[in-house]
Amino acid sequence: MLAIGSDHGGLKLKNAIIAYLNRRGIVVSDAGTTDDASVDYPDFGQTVAEMVASGSAERGILVCGTGIGMSIAANKVPGIRAALVTDAFMARMAKEHNKANILVLGGRVIDERAGCELVEAWLDAEFAGGRHQIRLDKISGIEQKYSR
Ligand code: RB5
Repeated sequence: MLAIGSDHGGLKLKNAIIAYLNRRGIVVSDAGTTDDASVDYPDFGQTVAEMVASGSAERGILVCGTGIGMSIAANKVPGIRAALVTDAFMARMAKEHNKANILVLGGRVIDERAGCELVEAWLDAEFAGGRHQIRLDKISGIEQKYSR
């Protein structure tokens, strides 16, 4: 299952991505928001990040206006590697090198077609392991240092 969330700035792109994921047969859990009313992106970022960190969702997608706030918020949750991407190369690398478990997009930065293409690039890529796993282990070490 894939958890997805947005604020008002990411709602339109999120809805387009949900339609794309449904077409691919991917089961989606939508954490909101559901309308154009102004909301606070950390609330939705935290919900999706906690679903991924706990294992109740395999992976997540977050969308706000720029993607910046959502990535900052989601990366506060231990175990989350949330990657804000703006092109297909970044989306692929986010999986191949960074094993990003949350993809973050800016609804005011890219259009719906581009957003779905970035989701596709991220979903279809594979983590390369090897030297990249060593680097992820070092990131986990930083988390552990500051969780004490
Ligand atoms: C909301 O206006 C906007 O600040 C939010 O969507 C996001 O861009 C924050 O990083």
